Amino acid sequence: MKRKCEDSTQHVQLQALRVKAAELIATAGESNGEGKAKYKKVVKDFIDAGGATDDLIVRIGTQFFGCPAAKTSQGPVEDAPFEGSRLLDFDYLEKFMVDCFVASGTPEKESKVCANVLIEADKRGIDSHGIGRLKSIYMDRIKSGILKPFAPIDVIRETETTALIDANMGIGLYVGPHCMDIAINKAKKYGLGFVAVRNSTHYGIAGYYATMATSRGCIGFCGTNARPSIAPTFGVEPCLGTNPLCFGIPTDEAFPFVIDCATSICQRGKVEKYARIGSATPKGMVIDSTGEERTDTEGILKGMVKGDCALCPMGGGGDELGGYKGYSWATVVELLSIAFQGGDFGRALSGVGPDGKPSPMSLGHFFLAINVEAVCDADAFKKKSGDFLRYLRGSAKDPNGPGRIWTAGEDQYDYRNQRTANGGVMVPPALLKDMKSLREYLPGLPEKYPKFCFED
Ligand SMILES: NC(=O)c1ccc[n+]([C@@H]2O[C@H](COP(=O)([O-])OP(=O)(O)OC[C@H]3O[C@@H](n4cnc5c(N)ncnc54)[C@H](O)[C@@H]3O)[C@@H](O)[C@H]2O)c1
Repeated sequence: MKRKCEDSTQHVQLQALRVKAAELIATAGESNGEGKAKYKKVVKDFIDAGGATDDLIVRIGTQFFGCPAAKTSQGPVEDAPFEGSRLLDFDYLEKFMVDCFVASGTPEKESKVCANVLIEADKRGIDSHGIGRLKSIYMDRIKSGILKPFAPIDVIRETETTALIDANMGIGLYVGPHCMDIAINKAKKYGLGFVAVRNSTHYGIAGYYATMATSRGCIGFCGTNARPSIAPTFGVEPCLGTNPLCFGIPTDEAFPFVIDCATSICQRGKVEKYARIGSATPKGMVIDSTGEERTDTEGILKGMVKGDCALCPMGGGGDELGGYKGYSWATVVELLSIAFQGGDFGRALSGVGPDGKPSPMSLGHFFLAINVEAVCDADAFKKKSGDFLRYLRGSAKDPNGPGRIWTAGEDQYDYRNQRTANGGVMVPPALLKDMKSLREYLPGLPEKYPKFCFED
């Protein structure tokens, strides 16, 4: 793994902090609360001094104390890039994604929408859902015939404020924006708009749809079900998708409040990330079919494919830390994704047919938009929202924390600014390889990209 370059003064400082951290790890006993607090402080100093969040000492400490390195107060901390990563310009990547969708049979208009949802993930720092998903979720599924590159979007039932849509198994990435747009237009006219969608597919980051609403003065609320991977509280079988539940609320700030996350503690993408940095998965995130909380990352990934390992809901396995809350929120998302839609759930969404071959997953989504100015004065609403978020961020800080409090959506705004200033996103070698392999078989790509900008 490529390391950040340390100058000599910085190197001495970082080495001293590494020694301090190692001492704390070595001397912490079974009841290591005090050691943990001291360790967190040392790691904060280490990161502030320019140390990498995946430094060996940080990784060992994370496994030992279960506390990953905190972010610094300066803004987002990018993971140290893998050896061979290349910085790719957002416009270049987005254009490449458009070309891939078009070459797969998606009309140009819808291809542009799909690529825009994906590139937004890269801009917002959600690396699991941008260029990283282009091949594995969309191109591979289109190639294997379980995802249609295009299908008409039919309105099945409609009132002034509601609609039921059939996406006919087209790509969720263009279905989602179309349906949120319907919800927002209804809200702008009648105050509220609610759209339920059936027979759709993976739609990427839920936050894209919520921010479509906030940018037009509406509250946006949306969710989708997904391949089952969360076990119910006191269960071990993956029954619920990671089911993101997302709210976007306009404010008077440069960014809205957007809480956009899965209802599990982590999603598979995060376990894959632990595998890449050679780290154990923190205890409490995954449970296996014997009820054991698993930390062996490689074993977990294999177990998830076989259905032997399930993700724990927010709040964790069992009821000690309120795991039933995350379990029930995941259930809310599943219900709103299947009950209006007459949709599939459970094993029918596993992506594997009775013959063991990949099979289509018919997903449901829902989108709600509330026009703020239909209820109250929009500026007063935004001011009050902003005041409250500023109050939260200005409240007393944890002395062992990073010295800053964020509100949801703010980190993504920071990522966008930081990455835009840096000239794009670092794309790891595995994804550069994906781009090359897409060029090999998608018609027209060899002519458009005889040489990628990262090929010397
Ligand atoms: N389409 C699907 O099937 C599907 C399924 C699961 C997740 N997803 C997407 O994956 C993405 C990542 O999900 P995740 O569960 O890993 O998200 P996550 O755990 O990274 O949480 C992200 C959310 O938490 C907020 N946040 C982060 N740090 C914060 C802090 N210190 N204080 C306040 N808020 C903070 C962010 O602004 C963001 O809203 C999301 O965009 C989600 O929509 C999609």
